[in-house]
Amino acid sequence: MNDRADAATSVIHLVDYRAPAWHVEHVELDFDLGIDRTDVVAKLDLRRMANEPLRLNGEGLELLSVSVDGRQLGPNDYILGNGTLEIAIDVDRCVVETRVGLRPAENTALEGLYLSGSRDTGFLLTQCEAEGFRHITFFPDRPDVLSKYTVTLRADRERFPVLLAGGNPDGEGELEGGRHWARFVDPHPKPSYLFALVAGRLARISQDYTTADGRPVALHIWAEADVIDRCHYAMDSLVRSMRWDEETYGRNYDLDVFHVVATHDFNMGAMENKGLNIFNAKYLLADADSGTDDEYRHVEAVVAHEYFHNWSGNRVTCRDWFQLSLKEGLTVFREQSFSADMNSAPLKRIEDVALLRRAQFPEDAGPLSHPVRPAEYSEINNFYTATVYEKGSELVRMLAGRLGKDGFRRGMDLYFERNDGDAATIEDFLSALGEANDIDLTPYLAWYGQAGTPRLSASGQYDADARRYTLKLRQRTPAGPGQAEKRSLPIPVKLALFATDGRMLPLKLRDGTGPVDTELTVVIDQAEATYVFDDVDVAPVPSLLRGFSAPVILEFDYAPDELAVLLQHDVDGFNRWEAGQQLAALAYDDLRDGKQDSAAVTAWTGALATLFGNEAIDDALLAELLTPPGEIELVERQAERDPDRIRATRKSLLAALASRIGASKLRQRYQSLHARTTGALDAQSQAARQLKRRMLDLIAAVDESDARTLALAQYNEAPGMTDRLAALTILATTSTDGAAASIAHFRERYADNALALDKWFAVQAQLPGDDALARVQALERDATFTLRNPNRVQALIGLFARANPTGFHRADGAAYRWLAERLVTLDGLNPQVAARVATAFNGWKRLEPVRREAAHAVVAELAGRSDLSRDLTDILGRVAL
Ligand code: ARG
Ligand code: ZN
Repeated sequence: MNDRADAATSVIHLVDYRAPAWHVEHVELDFDLGIDRTDVVAKLDLRRMANEPLRLNGEGLELLSVSVDGRQLGPNDYILGNGTLEIAIDVDRCVVETRVGLRPAENTALEGLYLSGSRDTGFLLTQCEAEGFRHITFFPDRPDVLSKYTVTLRADRERFPVLLAGGNPDGEGELEGGRHWARFVDPHPKPSYLFALVAGRLARISQDYTTADGRPVALHIWAEADVIDRCHYAMDSLVRSMRWDEETYGRNYDLDVFHVVATHDFNMGAMENKGLNIFNAKYLLADADSGTDDEYRHVEAVVAHEYFHNWSGNRVTCRDWFQLSLKEGLTVFREQSFSADMNSAPLKRIEDVALLRRAQFPEDAGPLSHPVRPAEYSEINNFYTATVYEKGSELVRMLAGRLGKDGFRRGMDLYFERNDGDAATIEDFLSALGEANDIDLTPYLAWYGQAGTPRLSASGQYDADARRYTLKLRQRTPAGPGQAEKRSLPIPVKLALFATDGRMLPLKLRDGTGPVDTELTVVIDQAEATYVFDDVDVAPVPSLLRGFSAPVILEFDYAPDELAVLLQHDVDGFNRWEAGQQLAALAYDDLRDGKQDSAAVTAWTGALATLFGNEAIDDALLAELLTPPGEIELVERQAERDPDRIRATRKSLLAALASRIGASKLRQRYQSLHARTTGALDAQSQAARQLKRRMLDLIAAVDESDARTLALAQYNEAPGMTDRLAALTILATTSTDGAAASIAHFRERYADNALALDKWFAVQAQLPGDDALARVQALERDATFTLRNPNRVQALIGLFARANPTGFHRADGAAYRWLAERLVTLDGLNPQVAARVATAFNGWKRLEPVRREAAHAVVAELAGRSDLSRDLTDILGRVAL
């Protein structure tokens, strides 16, 4: 199934792009659905574009027959092999019909047509992006072939009462022998990766919607009957997303129906198939009893993301997979803007940047580093990365910032208008945005082609006599795989100057244009630039890169009390938090080096102790401010990593903060928050729960037994999952044995809830220390653990490898060897998931020597095997370099 034989296959290069030789104007698909066996008849209406034979992609298909314009072909009339069906054709238009057989129940890779759930009760569904359609039928499976689809599904009525495919419904009826059929017509040409079907026993909730331009749309969310009640929040989110896209971008939905389906068996988060979005249940279900506050936010965001793809992705799609960020970066940006509008904008920005640093910066600093638009790939599924998504979104954000709100909207209007119904490139995007505003944006193309996180070093000099402040900026991007020389990029730096009393100073930029303001943006596009500010009455503290105006690492030699000024006074919520993070990092360095009462430690704890007493700060922001960078981000500050030392130092950082604020104050705050805790979902209640959790963490840093007492009560009285899970985490982290009863209770209480059980695995997978591996191995033997379910694999194995530094990186290398064994087994079932888990080895080169040796041995061994999938081979090959 996974072409293991030619795993070390060819590399595909962006520069080799050629337009398709044949177009498929219309395709008619006929499915005869069954769990063990499904037959697919595909009738392709073809038009020649170049003088070449017809080449159709097809993998793992049993070819039953093929005809051209009604004439059956014999085996000598075509060439079948290497994933293609090649037919020499001498006319310019023809109809090719193929009939193939599929075996959905045997499809453990969850790509193409597969079974979700059990043989008896499960349902059939498809996942085609990126190249899954070729596992369903022979087709030019590339995103620049756009076709109109007519799809007919036939199946046993009793086993498959619900039949769905993308497009508008176009009839249904009975067939002999208890069977039935349904037909769907999609009037919008689309690439094959957006095809989808679903068939089985599903329940639904529905809502009527009318678009701003007056189209009535029936919205349906489908899920298995036991979870359908948990889909209401997703429906609300969908309606909010549709309105928002109308109001913000003038984009209306364009079919009569919109279906969303939940499955527990899904490789990724969700998929934007035209008119038939399919979701990992993790991002669709949310209910008061088992959903956390974070999950509610994720559901809202992912529902919006997939819906927004209807324009940014579907109506305007990608010419080739190198352009993936054209739809993903843009859609993440749209999703983030939506979430910021629905919730708190500064908190959303903090969350997004924290994610970028946790996931994308490390990716970009290691052997898997690649540009937002890669120049080559051997397995495209390995490029659905934080770089393409998260950094891609940051690039769109820079462009949007450059153009301003109205200018960006003008540019987007032109982009949609020009490319509607087409497959576009990053160049098309930049030229539409630029031309609509008469601005040349081509310098920004360099951001798409160059990997690595740029370093922006800044230094400032104040001349009191001249009342002049001089700011020097320098940029440099470190070399990375395949890119030794790096160019200068246009980096927008939004900045302000503060007096130490918290006043913002007017910015009179020498040679500057525009009115004098207290905030402005300079764009440095050379290696170095100098900015002079006049009439500055006091030595200022610069607030740089406000709102995180570019995805770079800022280096400025702040004194601790300067950061404390920004932490106290910066009105840019993001930069205020950022100042705290920088200050915490300085404090961390001092503690690591044995300096207990350094200026940084005192400044950080002191500033936060003051803010702690400030009633004006909202609970959620305070909770964020009280959270120092996590172990994974702190890792980036060390030349050589020793996870045990990092964890221990971070613990003493928390202890320093907790004792400065004082245990009794923390406890008081905890109690008052606890007293007003409900399960309500409004922003204030969520913020209170979040702050309460911080209180518990800080109390645990100075008085573990008190924290345990509070956590146990919290666990037992919890009105919802957020409180319950937070309490369980504290209990298990402070004493795993002592938490045994609660852990057992949780397992029992949520025995029938797969997503809650995932959390149960996840909490335990992340418990630190020497016995972590043994614990994970014991959990593998739990009756509910299976390598066949991606969510379960991620909850236990994925989180252990990626989010449990002390447990996974144990010095004797035992966890590395264990993971290698699991990867091989997993690869035999699901290569995409195996490849994703394997990225945990990304940072091995920067481990301290003992661990590095151990990891290297394992990685080299694995990379040397020839029996692994292309997905896993690709990751290992790059990681081992
Ligand atoms: N386009 C989907 C999204 O909304 C992701 C699908 C990725 N699938 C894959 N097999 N790589 O982000
Ligand atoms: Zn997407």
